[in-house]
Amino acid sequence: MLGASLYAGAVAGGYVVALDHGPAVEEGSGSLAGIARKHGRVFGTAVGPLIETSPDYGRLVTAECGVVVPEYELKWRHVAPTPATYDFAAVDRRLAFAESNGLGFRGHTLVWHEALPRWFDEIVGTDNAAACLTAHIRTVVGRYAGRIHSWDVVNEAVDPAEPDGLRRTPWRRLIGPDYVRLAYETAAAADPRAKLVYNDYGLVVSATDAKRDATLRLLERLLARGVPVHALGLQCHLQVGTRLDEARVRRFCADIAGLGLEIMVTELDVADRRAPADIDARDGAVAEVYRTFLGCLLEQPATSTVLTWGLSDIHSWLQTYQPRADGLPCRVLPYDQRLRRKPAWNAIAGALAL
Ligand code: XIL
Repeated sequence: MLGASLYAGAVAGGYVVALDHGPAVEEGSGSLAGIARKHGRVFGTAVGPLIETSPDYGRLVTAECGVVVPEYELKWRHVAPTPATYDFAAVDRRLAFAESNGLGFRGHTLVWHEALPRWFDEIVGTDNAAACLTAHIRTVVGRYAGRIHSWDVVNEAVDPAEPDGLRRTPWRRLIGPDYVRLAYETAAAADPRAKLVYNDYGLVVSATDAKRDATLRLLERLLARGVPVHALGLQCHLQVGTRLDEARVRRFCADIAGLGLEIMVTELDVADRRAPADIDARDGAVAEVYRTFLGCLLEQPATSTVLTWGLSDIHSWLQTYQPRADGLPCRVLPYDQRLRRKPAWNAIAGALAL
């Protein structure tokens, strides 16, 4: 089968030709994980039900990745169907896939204003919000302690328009700004071995430094108080048509590294809704964004990890969240819908090999 022959190429590092569209991949190109590993880095991707419904896709993920992260199964709404019960069945399957294939496993995410349980507003108030937050973190982090590569403890908490730089999330409103410290200290106590990450978007593509500066200030404040934050997660949901301001991004990454923090690219993809309909032109435009942005981020030695938000166009959240006006299926990830490598794969491989 084509899929089988293709991922075999990825595994053996053999010569793999993407038929119809996409480039021939260089001889002995190996896998993205292998290229990353040669340069002391880790490559991975977000995974979901597709690794169970498509064995070929599951084998491709295993061949190409060194770490995986559940796309949504570890979010509060998905693990806590009621205030008194947890359902970890899906997460346990994702972790079993990772561990049985020798892959690392990221936790995403503990504290976010999205994907809150449907019962949240009726149950959680100012009187019990801190207790609910710490109980959730202890339950989830404690269950997987010692088995997690890194946790996105707090996700998307920064808003540069606010006086204290914090988005007015239910957590900020119910507990106050100290919720961030509480979250990281609780996670560290529940799993001292996990790398604790602050994760956010709009830190690479933003034309102004406002969000970068607010994020830097938050991290400086946390570190000054001895709060256990170890890395900054840059989601990197990019777009064809977004211009890279290399100087600003380089300076920001240097400032983050200067705090002693690792940098992780956590949710990399390139929306193609502004790209031409023609597949070769579109694939080339997407690949160019991967090449320029990832190349800039990987110039920084503190950038340790790169994960795409999916590996094949069979499934991308962008198909729902940023659909093309012409209705054509998106082509935003390193592999196409038939598990063939695309120019985006070469662009990522080239950046990882820098
Ligand atoms: C997205 C998932 O990909 C979708 O399946 C889900 O419907 C919504 O969330 N930033 C994040 C991720 O941190 O958790 C989001 O993932 C994408 C934006």
